[in-house]
Amino acid sequence: MFNIGILGCGNIAAKMAQAISKTKDCQVAGVASRERSRAKKFAAAYCPDAKVYTGYEKLAAAKDIDLIYIATPNSYHYEHAILCIKEYKNVLIEKPFAMNEGEARSIFSEAKNRNLFVCEAMWSSFMPLHLQMLEWIKEGRIGQVKYITGDLGYDLTEVPRLNDPVLGGGAYLDLGVYTSNLAISVIGNDIRVGHAYSKRLSTGCDKETFYNLESGDGSVIGSFFVTMGADTAKDGAVIGEEGKIKITNINNYRKITLLTKDDQVVEEKEAELSIDDSYIYEIEACRDAIRNGLIQCTEMPWDKTYKLAQLNDNIRNSMN
Ligand SMILES: NC(=O)c1ccc[n+]([C@@H]2O[C@H](COP(=O)([O-])OP(=O)(O)OC[C@H]3O[C@@H](n4cnc5c(N)ncnc54)[C@H](OP(=O)(O)O)[C@@H]3O)[C@@H](O)[C@H]2O)c1
Repeated sequence: MFNIGILGCGNIAAKMAQAISKTKDCQVAGVASRERSRAKKFAAAYCPDAKVYTGYEKLAAAKDIDLIYIATPNSYHYEHAILCIKEYKNVLIEKPFAMNEGEARSIFSEAKNRNLFVCEAMWSSFMPLHLQMLEWIKEGRIGQVKYITGDLGYDLTEVPRLNDPVLGGGAYLDLGVYTSNLAISVIGNDIRVGHAYSKRLSTGCDKETFYNLESGDGSVIGSFFVTMGADTAKDGAVIGEEGKIKITNINNYRKITLLTKDDQVVEEKEAELSIDDSYIYEIEACRDAIRNGLIQCTEMPWDKTYKLAQLNDNIRNSMN
């Protein structure tokens, strides 16, 4: 059995625990909260056989844990990842991986020194439809890529974490990382920021951000919009010289459609798992990588996470 520890008993941790229970050979073996009652309630609801730890340090030091999933607010990922790595634990860290490039570099360096597995829980990167889209592009089905577009918005205005700069709030760090990850997946690591424009909350967090990215040689341009103010279409498109791919939900791929230049459908594929079950893909990938002695996943390798952290810094510095 592959034993997973969950660090932080919040919303996404609950979804992950339920997905783990449906993943072959995997179980939640431990859950840690800052408060014992929260961890106990969480375990009772989602993983009754898991050990309950009060305080993250205890989970980090626990025996028989193959991977710790870090599901705390954005600004705590670095601290909690380092805590686990120093106890020789493999870690799957929620997105955004870290608050900046320096933190990301430090996590990789500490993990590499100990030969430990680290991965950013960028679940869309592991989804079969995302991988299929990249395959269509690689096969030349839409010719030379010219443009990428994507929007991602949810009404999260009432979520305290998203409103608080101390917890790494704002639309970009929670949602923009998905649109930027889409851009890096298609363009590759030779990518730079053009412009970014944000509207901010009174707390200083960005409520919505419009931005563009482009390939190093300027031949591919991406245009993106993220907001925590409303549920948007969540659509994306990759447009090539010979055709285009439409993505229905760039965060949790529901459908991809391959079209000719004049919008005739060539091929269409739909997701096989429900939205909540789609966490299974990243869990399976981490389980397999660790069992094979790898310290990174091919679907979300370290250089991609590192590039994403750099882009995040540049976009956030470019916001007016
Ligand atoms: N992959 C996805 O689909 C997805 C979706 C949503 C969010 N996320 C990411 O997952 C992470 C957690 O998001 P969430 O929505 O689950 O947040 P959440 O519901 O607020 O849960 C975060 C948990 O972190 C712990 N925590 C530690 N220090 C804290 C502090 N100072 N203030 C508040 N909580 C603190 C708390 O657990 P204890 O009280 O038990 O210690 C809390 O329950 C974020 O990085 C977010 O970007 C990913």
